[in-house]
Amino acid sequence: MAREFRTVGVVGLGTMGAGIVEVFARGGLQVVAVEVDEEAGQRGRSHLEASTGRAVSRGKMTQEQADELLGRITISTSLSALADAALVVEAIPESLEAKATVFAEVDGIVGEDTILCSNTSSLSVTELAVRTKRPGKVVGMHFFNPAPVQKLVEVVRTVVTEPDVIEDVQRFADSLGKVPVVIGDRAGFIANALLFGYLNHAAKMYAERYATREDIDAGMRYGCGYPMGPLALLDLIGLDTAYEILETMYGESRNLLHAPNPVFKQMITAGLLGRKSGRGFYTYE
Ligand code: CAA
Repeated sequence: MAREFRTVGVVGLGTMGAGIVEVFARGGLQVVAVEVDEEAGQRGRSHLEASTGRAVSRGKMTQEQADELLGRITISTSLSALADAALVVEAIPESLEAKATVFAEVDGIVGEDTILCSNTSSLSVTELAVRTKRPGKVVGMHFFNPAPVQKLVEVVRTVVTEPDVIEDVQRFADSLGKVPVVIGDRAGFIANALLFGYLNHAAKMYAERYATREDIDAGMRYGCGYPMGPLALLDLIGLDTAYEILETMYGESRNLLHAPNPVFKQMITAGLLGRKSGRGFYTYE
């Protein structure tokens, strides 16, 4: 019988984690979010309040609906708060070791039928699955930034994922208004595998002063109808995250398209991480 998802969990309340929590809460679910400490939890709550506040000021939601939405979210600093969740999504930084540790711990807390998902953009879901006692119930559930806006969810199956788990996660994503696609466990899945060669090339053009950042971005916005140019998009994704994704894809395929341009390392070393640090290819208030 198909699983019902009434209470779900999210580990990590960074940009992606907070966005995923918002998606779940908008879907009417009870959401338990876990962060490492009170301060990080508070940052996550502020992000959620700001996002719902924007929706209210744009007339997309009433204040009452926003309050109800926020009321469905519980933020905790302990993974044991996830005990009743029917599905848990991990959205912590891209470290295999850190993610595997979270998976192993959550595995011992949740019910035996609970599905464990990773929002990883390029790490091996199989590696995470085998660190639990339920490898057949571990999948990738990869959202895109900003999660409340982008409709795509990549559902990543491994060689041991149980077919009904894939079906249930697809149905779940669908019920949240998302468009699920199913893909095998390879670095970059579908969208990043196609997107990051292009973003890397744009960074190379910038580094070689081939054209200005504004003109590179204008080329794709006004020539191809992309909502954002590649350099603005790299600032949104975060240069550190983009670098990690390129490195992982390059490590797996040795495809030179994904060999990170040196400008990434230089900018990261200088603290130019994009929007989140106030400066990347562009400067933000
Ligand atoms: N959270 C919630 N809602 C947000 C949001 C956020 N962070 N940012 C924008 N929105 C909402 C706005 O509230 C607005 O909603 P309404 O239409 O309901 O009013 C809508 O999105 C449009 O926002 P804006 O008018 O402020 O701005 P825009 O029209 O310029 O759109 C954008 C902004 C949605 C970011 C758009 O430029 C876009 O789609 N850019 C491309 C983003 C993209 O390619 N993402 C994928 C990155 S790759 C990835 O995520 C994978 C990975 O593993 C790294």
